[in-house]
Amino acid sequence: GAGWPGVINAYADRIALPEGAEVITLHEGGTPLVEAPHLAELTGCRVLLKVEGANPTGSFKDRGLTVAITHARATGSKAVICASTGNTSASAAAYAARAGMTSAVLVPSGKIALGKLAQAVMYGARILQVDGNFDDCLELARKTAADHPVTLVNSVNPVRIEGQKTAAFEICDVLGRAPDVHCLPVGNAGNITAYWKGYREYAEDGVVAGTPRMFGFQAAGAAPLVHGAPVSHPETVATAIRIGSPASWAGAIAARDESDGLIAAVTDEQILAAYRLLAAREGVFVEPGSAASVAGLLATARDGRLPAGSLVVCTVTGHGLKDPDTALLGLGELAPVPVDPGAVAAALELA
Ligand code: F0G
Repeated sequence: GAGWPGVINAYADRIALPEGAEVITLHEGGTPLVEAPHLAELTGCRVLLKVEGANPTGSFKDRGLTVAITHARATGSKAVICASTGNTSASAAAYAARAGMTSAVLVPSGKIALGKLAQAVMYGARILQVDGNFDDCLELARKTAADHPVTLVNSVNPVRIEGQKTAAFEICDVLGRAPDVHCLPVGNAGNITAYWKGYREYAEDGVVAGTPRMFGFQAAGAAPLVHGAPVSHPETVATAIRIGSPASWAGAIAARDESDGLIAAVTDEQILAAYRLLAAREGVFVEPGSAASVAGLLATARDGRLPAGSLVVCTVTGHGLKDPDTALLGLGELAPVPVDPGAVAAALELA
């Protein structure tokens, strides 16, 4: 391959792998950091979007799965398993396919977005739609991996975190400093744990001077970290983060407390408003779960918890095309227009 080499090769000295491991990569990472002028106007901050939908399978999970699959293969594993709300399964299936390995994915029945299911099908995963939620799927995946020769590639596998921390490196490398505040959506809490690890490593090694305050946002109907207790029936339109018992609970709390940050809830209405605003005003189409970071940005700017003038990075974690159903929600019928310039002008109210 040529150009950007993928996160393992880009940050080889910061990701430990078994000696001689063959790198399994789709050249993930190196994603755009996009200026968001409309959000800047609304918040009085400089706002940059880390657009993780630009990864090979359309989400940040690729950073973790390139490392997890590389590691699993190098240690002789032939098969991997994961629980997922959709993106981890798409990514695991893609990297497993590339490595010539088998993948099995456990997803909550009827609760994963259409595009993610299509990906798992096309990459050749064994798909089990479980009659339960993500938390049930994760428990099943853990038990299966404990009793059978399959490697668990959820973010409870620490090599996942090693891959995902590279997003923090990229942001510091591009900005030449750490942001003041970093906003991101929180579900199973692996990603906030990973970013915080990445920022800390760069600060400890003197690559940049400090670390950002970490602002994590959960959907109000799936906000165990905000309540301080698991939620047994999580519900939200943002199916990616429909999780009631995050595996990296302690990592998220440490990121919050060590960074003088916060973890707050945003309602589905706030998530959908941010989702629409991002596409319509910034030209950045993300999936609903991703918009939680921007919903939280707007809410904390309004209530004064986000200091005006801050340099803020919001991670938007997955591509909008993952979830076409939510995008088309409430769209009326698009009546066809006859092949007639006058009809086009009239339909566009130009006449
Ligand atoms: N955004 C998207 C688009 C996600 O898919 C996820 C998690 C998150 C945010 C939250 O990240 O779990 O590290 O706190 N998706 C997992 C999955 C659970 O199975 O794809 P987290």
